[in-house]
Amino acid sequence: MRGRGTRHSADSTLMKKLVILISGRGSNMEAIVKACAAEGWPAQVAAVISNRPDAGGLAFAAAHGIATAVVDHKAFASREDFDAELMRVIDGFAPDLVVLAGFMRILTPGFTAHYARRLLNIHPSLLPAFTGLHTHERAIEMGCKLAGATVHFVTAELDHGAIVMQAAVPVLAGDDAAALSARVLKLEHQIYPRSVRWFVEDALVWDGDRVFHRDGAPQLLLS
Ligand code: GRF
Repeated sequence: MRGRGTRHSADSTLMKKLVILISGRGSNMEAIVKACAAEGWPAQVAAVISNRPDAGGLAFAAAHGIATAVVDHKAFASREDFDAELMRVIDGFAPDLVVLAGFMRILTPGFTAHYARRLLNIHPSLLPAFTGLHTHERAIEMGCKLAGATVHFVTAELDHGAIVMQAAVPVLAGDDAAALSARVLKLEHQIYPRSVRWFVEDALVWDGDRVFHRDGAPQLLLS
């Protein structure tokens, strides 16, 4: 019994804890939860936290036995107050990595500094192009021939920070934002789990402000 207990605690210390933040349907969160289980990552999704009580993804998380919490931004007078409470709730789960998956809030510099190099985001454009909202509409309006998504570490500057992985898709004649977004989303569901897996496996190495895969695995997915 003693031996088993010891082994169990040793295994637990190797398991990285993830907290995933969502605001809506949570399809990227779902892809990460499923890949973590299916591929046996040395990681556990400790909690899914939403700033919206009606976020669709909360039901999926609860159905998979994952703790859920809501920190409703509408209940706070300032971004600072909201972020302070969000940090308190997140840190209650002692995560190694915080994953923003369709989390639609601008974060304060205090928040991003607190989670420096352990906060990931996915943005639906080929950064540094099209930071902010309505990325697919803007790419189509500009006549871009290529669109995509970027997984990056989060810094105080919106939609900046070291790029972990990008996925690129062609913009097709006749594409509207919905069609392009659906094509990009399929690849988001590949590059985000892969990026998180690299983090939990300690496969990401920093070179100044840039980040690379330890063994040179491709950080670009082309469809
Ligand atoms: C994704 O397109 C993601 O890139 C963006 O918001 C969307 C979230 O979708 N940040 P979901 O909630 O993961 O389904």
